[in-house]
Amino acid sequence: MTNATDQHHLGSTTHWWETAVVYQVYVRSFADANGDGIGDLAGITSRLPYLADLGVDALWLTPCFPSPQHDHGYDVADYFDIEPAYGDLAIFDTMVSRAREHGIRILMDVVPNHCSWDHEWFKAALAAAPGSPERERFYFRDGRGADGSEPPNNWQAVFGGPAWHRVVDADGTPGQWYLQTFTPQQPDWNWGCADVVDYFDRMITFWFDRGVDGFRVDAVAVLGKAPGLPDAPPVPDDVRPTDRALRNPHTHFRPEGHDVWRRWRKLVDGYSAEHPGREVFTIAEAYTPRQPEVLLQFQNHEEFHQVFAFDFMLAPWNVHDLRESIDATVRALSPEGLVPAWTLNNHDAQRAVTRYGRADAHDPASWTGNNLVYTDAPIDLDLGARRARAIAMILLALPGSAYLYQGEELGLPEVLDIPAEARQDPIFFRTNGAEIGRDGCRVPLPWTTAEDGAHGFSPIGSAAPWMPQPSAWGQYAADAQDGVDGSMLELYRRAISVRRRHGDLRGGALRWIAVEHPTLLAFERGEITVLLNVGSDPVELSGIVDGTTRVVVASDPETSSASVLPPDTAIWLARTDPT
Ligand code: NOJ
Ligand code: CA
Repeated sequence: MTNATDQHHLGSTTHWWETAVVYQVYVRSFADANGDGIGDLAGITSRLPYLADLGVDALWLTPCFPSPQHDHGYDVADYFDIEPAYGDLAIFDTMVSRAREHGIRILMDVVPNHCSWDHEWFKAALAAAPGSPERERFYFRDGRGADGSEPPNNWQAVFGGPAWHRVVDADGTPGQWYLQTFTPQQPDWNWGCADVVDYFDRMITFWFDRGVDGFRVDAVAVLGKAPGLPDAPPVPDDVRPTDRALRNPHTHFRPEGHDVWRRWRKLVDGYSAEHPGREVFTIAEAYTPRQPEVLLQFQNHEEFHQVFAFDFMLAPWNVHDLRESIDATVRALSPEGLVPAWTLNNHDAQRAVTRYGRADAHDPASWTGNNLVYTDAPIDLDLGARRARAIAMILLALPGSAYLYQGEELGLPEVLDIPAEARQDPIFFRTNGAEIGRDGCRVPLPWTTAEDGAHGFSPIGSAAPWMPQPSAWGQYAADAQDGVDGSMLELYRRAISVRRRHGDLRGGALRWIAVEHPTLLAFERGEITVLLNVGSDPVELSGIVDGTTRVVVASDPETSSASVLPPDTAIWLARTDPT
C-alpha cells in the first residue's frame, strides 16, 4: 500500500478497555426471565452465551439501582442496591461471576448529577427546614418575587420547562424551590457538600468490591454550577427545548465539576493499584460537538480514562464529515497517549438504521440537536440497513474501544410510531410532544421469530412487554439471523472475531490513504486496509489497492473481490486472512 499520509498511533495498549468491544445493555429491554414484561438481571445471565458468541469483552448496564423509573433508572433512589424489578444483590453477584466465566466484564452506570426524589436523603431534605444540613445536600433556594412564587433564577431544564421545582411544606403551604437539571423527579446533588462527596466514594468502592470493572458516568457536562446561581443569558425562541438548557454557561462545562472527576480518578486508579489483577476505569458521557479541546478537558490522565467520541456517531453520511469526526478525535487524543471510545448508537439516540436511511443523511444541516436527531425527511430502511452495516465495519476498525448498543447487531430500526399512550420518555411529556423522545430505541429485543412471549423477550405466556413491539419485529429476531450468511448478526460476529484475532486492528496505527475520490473513505490499520464508499455509484479500486489483497470482511455479502466497491459498502482487505 502506498500514498499513506498522516499516521496516528495508539498509546501503549496495555489496558483491556483500550481495545474492548463493549455491549450496552438497556436492562429493561434486553431479556425478561420472570415473565413480568420487564427485562432483568436473570434475563441477562441467561443470554450470556449469546453475548460470548458475539465476542464482546464487557457489558455496560444502564442503571439497575432501585428507582421509581421516571427516567428509567437515571433517577436513582438507592445507589447501594438493585432495582427489585430487575433482581437483587445475590442475582447481581451470580451474573457478574457467570459473565466472568464467559470472559465478559461488567460495567455499571453511575449518575452523579442528580438522584431520585425517592432517595432517602432527598426525602429527609423535604422534611427538614430551610438552611438545614439535610437541605444542604441539594440546591434548595427561596423563590423570587414578594411571595417567592417565581423560580430562584431563569434556568431551563434539559427535558423542558424550568429547572426549579417548588416544594409544598408539611403545613400545606408552598415552600422553597430545588434545582432539577432534568426533571422534578431528579433533584440535583450539591457537590459542595462533603456528605455527597463521601457517599459517591463509598458507592464506587462498593461495586468494585462486588466485581464491577468500571463505570459509565452520566451527564458529566452539567455537574458543577456557577457560584451564586446567576441568571443565564437569553436563548432565542427557536432553539429546541432539549438544547435550551445546554446553552446555559452557568450549568454546562463548569470548572467546579472537574474537582470531582480528579478525585474519582485517584480513587479508581488507587483501587486498581491496590487490587492486583484488577484494572478498573471510567468512561464519561459528555457531548462536546466538534470541540476536541473540550473532550480533552474530560478525557485526560487526571480525570476520565475515556469519554465517548460522539462526533463520529453524529457525523453526516459524507466523506468529509466522517473523516473529520474521526481525525479530529484521534489527533486530539493520541499525542497525549489517550485512546478514543467510538460508538454509533445508545439509548438516547435515534438508531443508526433509521438515521442513515434518511433522505438527507448526507446533509450536515439535518444533523442538529445533539444526540436526538429527528427530521421529517423520508426514510428508506433498506438503504439505512446497508449503511449501518458499512459504518459498523468502520466503527470496529477504528483505533480504540467500540461501544455497541443492544439490538444494533440485529439491525433494529428506530420505532417511530409508538402511540402517545404507550410512550414513557419524560422528554415526550415535558415538551408536550414537541420532541418524541427516546422510547423508539428502547423497545424490547426480539429473540425469536415466533411471537410468543414478545418474540422471546419474555417466557411464553408472559405479561405484555413494558413497551409494545411493532408487528413486524420478528423479522429482526436473533434466531432468524443466527447462522444465516449475510445477516446483520453474522456480520457483527465475523467483524468482531476478526478484530479480536488481528493484532493490527487492536493496536495498530491509523493511516489515512490519500485518495482523491469524493465518496471514498480509506485508511489502514497495519496490514488491514479499510474502505468505505458512501456514494450511490460503485468505486473502481484499481490504482487504490493492489491485486494481492483479499476481502476479509465485506458489509455487502455479494462483495467478494477487491476490484469494485459497491455503493454504501465497506470492506476490510488484507494480504493474509486472519482467520
Ligand atoms: C444521560 C442519559 O444517557 C439519559 O438517558 C438520561 O435521561 C440523562 N442523562 C439524565 O440522567
Ligand atoms: Ca422481569
